[in-house]
Amino acid sequence: MRWFIFALIFSSSAMAKEPSEQRQKELLNMLKHDCGSCHGLTLKGGLGPSLLVDALKNKTDDFLVKTIREGRKGTAMPPWKPFMTEQETLWLVQKVLKHHQEAVRE
Ligand code: HEC
Repeated sequence: MRWFIFALIFSSSAMAKEPSEQRQKELLNMLKHDCGSCHGLTLKGGLGPSLLVDALKNKTDDFLVKTIREGRKGTAMPPWKPFMTEQETLWLVQKVLKHHQEAVRE
């Protein structure tokens, strides 16, 4: 029973599915070069605000995914919906932006 609950938690839709290794590379490349052009190559901010862990940790995954997918009207933040799926955006937020930013710098 305990194992079952464990499996349920980790397969829940709140966790991003891992994109393929090739796709992860593409997404990291996009983060560095496309997002980096406004948010800074090291994500510490530029035209756009800092995307470092400290700046994002108190914002919900949903809020960040929505910002990235829809952009922010009236600001320079464009919508990225045409370039990544919702699961891919969630993966970027959960696995990279909030946890493993060193992956962007490699
Ligand atoms: C053309 C410039 C530009 C590009 C390219 C860009 N952003 Fe932004 N981004 C902004 C600006 C400006 C804001 C602040 C909007 C506002 O004033 O609310 C922002 C806001 C954000 C926020 C909200 C931050 C917060 O603290 O609420 C996130 C998350 C974000 N961007 C992620 C990304 C990601 C991921 C990419 C690449 C896929 C990206 N941005 C590409 C300009 C850009």
